[in-house]
Amino acid sequence: MLPTRAAASFARQSLRLVSTAILLSPALRAQRTAVEAEHAIVTSVHFLASEAGVEVLKKGGNAVDAAAATAFTLAVVYPYAGTLGAGGFMLIHLADGRDVVVDYRETAPSAASRDMYLGPDGNVISGPGSSTLGWRASGVPGMVAGFALAQQRYGSGKVTWSDVIEPARRLAAEGHRVTQYTAYLFQNSVDKLAQFSESKRVFLADGAMLKSGDLWRQPDLAATLVRLQQEGPREFYEGETARLIADAMAKNSGTIALADLKTYRPVERIPLRGSYRGFEIVSMPPPSSGGIALLQMLGMLEPFDVASLGPNSAAKYHLFTETMRRAFRDRAEYLGDPDFVTIPVTDLLDRAYLKKRMTDFDPTRATRSDQTAPGLGPIKVTAHTPDSADPSRAQHVALRAQLQNESTETTHFSIVDAAGNAVSNTYTLNGAFGSGVTIPGTGIMLNNEMDDFTSKLGVKNMFGLIQGPANSIAPGKRPLSAMTPTIVLKNGAVVLVTGSPGGPTIISTVLAIITNIIDHSMAVQQAVDFPRFHHQWMPDELTFDRHSMSPDTMKILANLGHNLKERPTIITGDGETIAVDLKTKLLHGAADPRKPDSKSVGY
Ligand code: DON
Repeated sequence: MLPTRAAASFARQSLRLVSTAILLSPALRAQRTAVEAEHAIVTSVHFLASEAGVEVLKKGGNAVDAAAATAFTLAVVYPYAGTLGAGGFMLIHLADGRDVVVDYRETAPSAASRDMYLGPDGNVISGPGSSTLGWRASGVPGMVAGFALAQQRYGSGKVTWSDVIEPARRLAAEGHRVTQYTAYLFQNSVDKLAQFSESKRVFLADGAMLKSGDLWRQPDLAATLVRLQQEGPREFYEGETARLIADAMAKNSGTIALADLKTYRPVERIPLRGSYRGFEIVSMPPPSSGGIALLQMLGMLEPFDVASLGPNSAAKYHLFTETMRRAFRDRAEYLGDPDFVTIPVTDLLDRAYLKKRMTDFDPTRATRSDQTAPGLGPIKVTAHTPDSADPSRAQHVALRAQLQNESTETTHFSIVDAAGNAVSNTYTLNGAFGSGVTIPGTGIMLNNEMDDFTSKLGVKNMFGLIQGPANSIAPGKRPLSAMTPTIVLKNGAVVLVTGSPGGPTIISTVLAIITNIIDHSMAVQQAVDFPRFHHQWMPDELTFDRHSMSPDTMKILANLGHNLKERPTIITGDGETIAVDLKTKLLHGAADPRKPDSKSVGY
């Protein structure tokens, strides 16, 4: 039922008042209560997406089916971050004990090349045509194929592909009320979106702007979703949608061709496993750096009595910062797409190595980043073609085959279902509204994931990351990511499902949530709400949430030699998390208060 004009105007005004207060005072946005549920929970950045996941669960779907419904709905109600033109990683824990990863990260199109973002002067270009903006910034999207693969292999079999798309189709066709936060996100990206006529038409209402409380319909996206429902996921890669993408690309000197779409495949991978103080940590393998960096930091921290340092002492910030500096140094040197480069994963996660890595840790002085060498020495990254066989790869392929032979019986947002399956899924367009490009007639906004590659050695990307040759651009290659969907187990049982956006800060956010719970005994909502800090080797800065450090703590850290930089709370992560209480069996959904529309929905 449509509200009356007066009611709509009242709703708009109150939303605006509430949200303006929220946006202006990030420090006030702390503290929500975790949602408790007996059976299942979906925790995501948008209440409509969480509700869509629960709708599918209640129809008989499992956590993987619900993940697809949540992701497709986010593409309608949160196009800022995840659309059908995006890619990402899904970590699935199955109730029978198996853990699997679906890697649906974008790939560089076949027209891509190592120096494609360098101008005639050898410098990295900016503006339209660069790795961040316009028709040459996108990798081949994996979202549709990723969720299709996950649902086919690990879904319940009780709901169809069409069923999991239906909540999204309905919201796109019938419209949904724009929230104040979404209106703010459009407003905040006007300069980018207005450069592309279709984006201006679809997301800026042709300049009129969508305001909070407006009913926003997306007929083109609804039609795309209907094609997917009727023709199946390959439609995106071979059907009308593929043709619309390829034609628009060709008209605008873009890089993605029909053949790139046709040949895109998601990849099942074996998750990385490690332990921390008796808990098992299951996380993302390359081409994300997330799992390796997280496990390295935890491994470096384990010999220290973190609990005794307290959650916000200068000594704790110092210790954590030094582990981050070292892990990010290794990341820059050794990590890239494992199908293209050989990564010394075992050596990087070796306990003895991680202990040795901290032997130069000085409690009285910050290490300088420009004097922090990669821990395994300047190993020359050996590139191989996707099909060459090195031992670790052979083992990987064998394990993958083994997984595929097992039963498919049952099956970031974080989801835990009533059967005990869990999904930790992070997917992204990279920058806000990705490349800024919307494919005419489809409602699909494209990613600018190509910026995650090394455009030029020694030159920072959008997140200030300096990266190495292991992550250089090549056709078909996946850019190195920091996405860290993670599941924590205790004696085989799920106790935590977590992850976050935030570029490189993703890894520090996941590290913070896990250690807040394990070391500082925080309840899950407090662990998510707690202020965050981050260091990524280069630039040599310790960034921290506004107002989160006392002046005396800052003084101590500055005296140790840290270069402190405050950042607005709103941009440090969004840790949509679920914890499971093994005693009561209750699920606790902790939506991150940094995002006004986030919500845990459970039953
Ligand atoms: O894959 C990555 O690491 C980045 N593309 C993630 C970007 C991101 O988290 C942006 N969110 N704030």
